[in-house]
Amino acid sequence: MKIILLGPPGAGKGTQAKFISREYSIPHISTGDIFRKNISEKTSLGVKAKKYLDAGKLVPDEITIGIMKNRLDMDDCKNGFLLDGFPRTVNQARALDSYLNGVGQKIDVVLLIDVPEKLIFDRITGRRVCPSCGASYHIKFNPPKIEGKCDVCHSDIVQRKDDTESTVKSRLEVYGRQTEPLVGYYEAQGVLSKVDGSGEIDQVFQNVRNVLKKYN
Ligand code: AP5
Ligand code: MG
Ligand code: ZN
Repeated sequence: MKIILLGPPGAGKGTQAKFISREYSIPHISTGDIFRKNISEKTSLGVKAKKYLDAGKLVPDEITIGIMKNRLDMDDCKNGFLLDGFPRTVNQARALDSYLNGVGQKIDVVLLIDVPEKLIFDRITGRRVCPSCGASYHIKFNPPKIEGKCDVCHSDIVQRKDDTESTVKSRLEVYGRQTEPLVGYYEAQGVLSKVDGSGEIDQVFQNVRNVLKKYN
C-alpha cells in the first residue's frame, strides 16, 4: 500500500505512522526525521537544512525532492510505503506524481489527520523525543514509564528544538499557506480520506484502520 499522511504540525502523523508501518509492513518515511538525523550527524545536507527547521520554514523543494526520489528508489519501497511530512507543497506533490508515473505506480490513499488548532499547541509543547532512538512521547498524553527517560533505550528524552511557541506559530502559518492546498489537490484526484485525529491515540488509530481496510 502507498500512503501519504497529511496534517498540521502536531496532528499525530509520526505517532500514527509507527502503528501503520508495523501493521501493514511498509517503511515509514519521514522527511522531518531524515533532516533531523542529518542535522545531528552534521552532514552537508544537515548543515543546509538546519536553518529552515530552526525557523519552522520549509527546506527548499530542490533539496527535498531529490532526497525523496533517492529514498523511494530503495528496495524496501517496492511493496509500498508511508510518507509522513512529504509532500508539503504542490510542487513536491507534482514531482512525486511524475516520479510514480515514471515507475508505473500511484498513491492509494492520502490520510488527512484532522485536528482542531486548539489541541495542537498542547500536543507539540508537551512532546518529548529520544535523541538516541527517535521514540516520541508526550508528558501528559503518552508519558514514558520513568519520567524523563526513554522506554526503549533509557536515554534522557528532550524537547525538539522547533517545538517552542514562536516556531510552532511559524510552522502553522507555513502549513496553512503552503501545505493545506494539497487537500484540494488530492481531493481532485479522488484519493483523499479525512480521519478524525482529535481523540486519544488508540482511538485515532482505529479511525485510521477503518479507512485503510477499504484499500487492503
Ligand atoms: P516534521 O518533523 O514533519 O514536523 P511537523 O509536520 O511539524 O509535524 P510534527 O512532527 O511536529 O507532528 P506530528 O504530526 O508528527 O505529530 P506527533 O505524532 O509527533 O517537519 C519538521 C521540519 O522539517 C519542517 O518544519 C521543515 O523545516 C522540515 N521539513 C519536513 N518535511 C519537509 C518537506 N516535505 N519539505 C520541506 N521541509 C520539510 O504528535 C505530536 C505530540 O502529540 C506527541 O507528543 C504525541 O505523543 C502527541 N499525540 C499524538 N497523537 C495524540 C493524540 N491522539 N492525543 C494526544 N496526544 C497525541
Ligand atoms: Mg512528526
Ligand atoms: Zn530511546
